[in-house]
Amino acid sequence: MQDQINRLRAEIEAYDLSAPEQLEQFRIAFTGRKGQLADLFDLLKTVPQEQRRAVGQELNQLKQLALDRFAQRQQEQEAAAQNSPADPTFDYTLPVVPNALGTRHPLSLVREEMVRIFSRIGFNVAEGPEIEDDWHNFTALNFPENHPARDMQDTFFITRNPADPTHDALLRTHTSTVQVRVMESQQPPIRSIMPGRVYRNEAISARAHMMFHQVEGIFIDEGVSFADLKQTVYYFVQEMFGQDIQIRFRPSFFPFTEPSAEIDITCLICKGAGCNICKQSGWVEIGGCGMVDPNVLEQSGIDAERYSGYAWGMGIERITMLKYQIKDLRLFTENDLRFLRQFEGVQ
Ligand code: DAH
Repeated sequence: MQDQINRLRAEIEAYDLSAPEQLEQFRIAFTGRKGQLADLFDLLKTVPQEQRRAVGQELNQLKQLALDRFAQRQQEQEAAAQNSPADPTFDYTLPVVPNALGTRHPLSLVREEMVRIFSRIGFNVAEGPEIEDDWHNFTALNFPENHPARDMQDTFFITRNPADPTHDALLRTHTSTVQVRVMESQQPPIRSIMPGRVYRNEAISARAHMMFHQVEGIFIDEGVSFADLKQTVYYFVQEMFGQDIQIRFRPSFFPFTEPSAEIDITCLICKGAGCNICKQSGWVEIGGCGMVDPNVLEQSGIDAERYSGYAWGMGIERITMLKYQIKDLRLFTENDLRFLRQFEGVQ
């Protein structure tokens, strides 16, 4: 037994570990479960009782020796791999493989551009919650209780109590809710835009979605007129789409504005020739607008004798579709990289 131990010690000390693959061979031969050390440990039970303790200790020392050699060589190899001179055949003048950057979503790009355009003429940005109450979504905006106007926008209710709608919780159907919050918390002059996500119980198609985005705007001061509203819309549309675009205001109805209008611009997908996005009319609606109803001002704590104002709500999806010739609304939420990557580098 003693001879075997001595021989094995000599073998462990002399083992050539210069090549990387020898390290694993060393481990298998000596310290592995089927290695020579394991064999000797098995023989320990044949050693006479009075020597077993001493031989056992010696075997343990031998095992430690093998483990130490292994660990030391392993460390050396790792250090060498880190410091080794790089592959001499590597061509440092090759262009780098571009690391694909994430791209910004087209809706974010357009929302940010809208914020920039309106901030240049003095509008600040306000925000409000997506889960709203009946008051901010309907009542404060002049939607009478039980009036069919409430059905204009199919609503996702979270809690609903027909006997007492004042406690309803719902997903806001438009960003006009934030107008109310702004008017409740500030006095004129007010110049704010309010970008945000809205929800309606609608079947999803190329032209409609149950979740989309609007940019609301409100301007309240002394002596504000419909002419100011028109000029602001002209300015915005030309900044967004260029000078050649046609704009028209179509009389409409909203409970919270009087008079009210819808804003149409030339369909940029067919350049006015007629397509399925503009329903062959050559015009596309980008939002609604009007003079804020005096009732709405008063209900939010603003003196309607002294102040007047205009407001609008525009759809970000619609504007993005026109700007980038996108023909299907569903592309915005499908997360198809072939679509999203087309906006790489767009500012
Ligand atoms: N809230 C309306 C909608 O979602 C859009 C709208 C129309 C907003 C007229 C306004 C407005 O601020 O004045 O259909």
